[in-house]
Amino acid sequence: MKGILLAGGSGTRLAPMTRVVSKQLLPVYDKPLIYYPLSTLLLAGIRDILLIATPQDLPRFEALLGDGSAWGISLRYVAQPAPEGLAQAFVLGRDFLGRDPVTLILGDNLFFGAGLEQQLRAGRERVATAGGATIFGYRVSNPERYGVADVAPDGTVRSIEEKPKAPKSALAVTGLYCYDNRVVDIAAGLKKSARGEYEITDVNTAYLREGTLRLERLDRGMAWLDTGTVTAMQEAARFVEAIEMRQGLKIGCPEEVAFRMGFISREQLVALAAPLASSEYGDYLRRVAAEPA
Ligand code: DAU
Repeated sequence: MKGILLAGGSGTRLAPMTRVVSKQLLPVYDKPLIYYPLSTLLLAGIRDILLIATPQDLPRFEALLGDGSAWGISLRYVAQPAPEGLAQAFVLGRDFLGRDPVTLILGDNLFFGAGLEQQLRAGRERVATAGGATIFGYRVSNPERYGVADVAPDGTVRSIEEKPKAPKSALAVTGLYCYDNRVVDIAAGLKKSARGEYEITDVNTAYLREGTLRLERLDRGMAWLDTGTVTAMQEAARFVEAIEMRQGLKIGCPEEVAFRMGFISREQLVALAAPLASSEYGDYLRRVAAEPA
């Protein structure tokens, strides 16, 4: 299973902050936004990752994250010349994917909570062995802002609608998706929607029609945070701050995840902390490295 981290887009809703810096490089409390979805992929055991961003932002992502080897993963990069929709990620990623299945995560989605790792692994393993698609639903108070799933009592997905004016349920489709390799051809065959984008909802509807779309519900004990607006960014930062202050543990720290997943050794973690010596983040990495095994 390969991973795609989609971090393009114009970021217009966060202007002027996004005029010269990509939204996904802006801080959410103590680290760049992109660290959160990257950590989620790592937690799912995905180590071969393609990052897609705008041509102007791509060099900054490369400067921040490198080729991934320091974190025991492989990171490659492809530019999306124009923000023509989420489904374009699979067409841009065709060579990278080869014949493999894929997990796509949006670079502005933040997930947190016990059980996420297991649910994501289960979803990704099911797609890798049985094929089809697995998406993740989360109850929200404002479903009209998202893709919305209508699910029958037996768990079958009846429909998915993109930003419906009259949502059939409160179940939003999150920015985390697992697909078999056919997604590349499905995405390549899509037509642009009325708003001029290749829609991920149309990809999901294609799997729904052939009866191979499954939806996993992320329950209320989990957090799925959006960073679409200034207020949502601030709320996400406050959430991260509250949990980190209370527990003394970080959310979305890829170095820590890489260490705990066994992708890097204790010595490698110490080496990663060294250039961050004067920051609280560097202190944290050193503390994690010093924990008894
Ligand atoms: O966050 C989950 C939602 O994401 C889903 O519920 C919706 O079904 C899905 O369409 C999407 O809705 P958004 O309105 O949030 O999509 P947005 O256009 O904001 O794009 C999401 C992220 O993907 C954003 O950080 C920018 C990036 N992006 C977007 C487009 C259109 C790209 O990298 N390339 C693109 O072409």
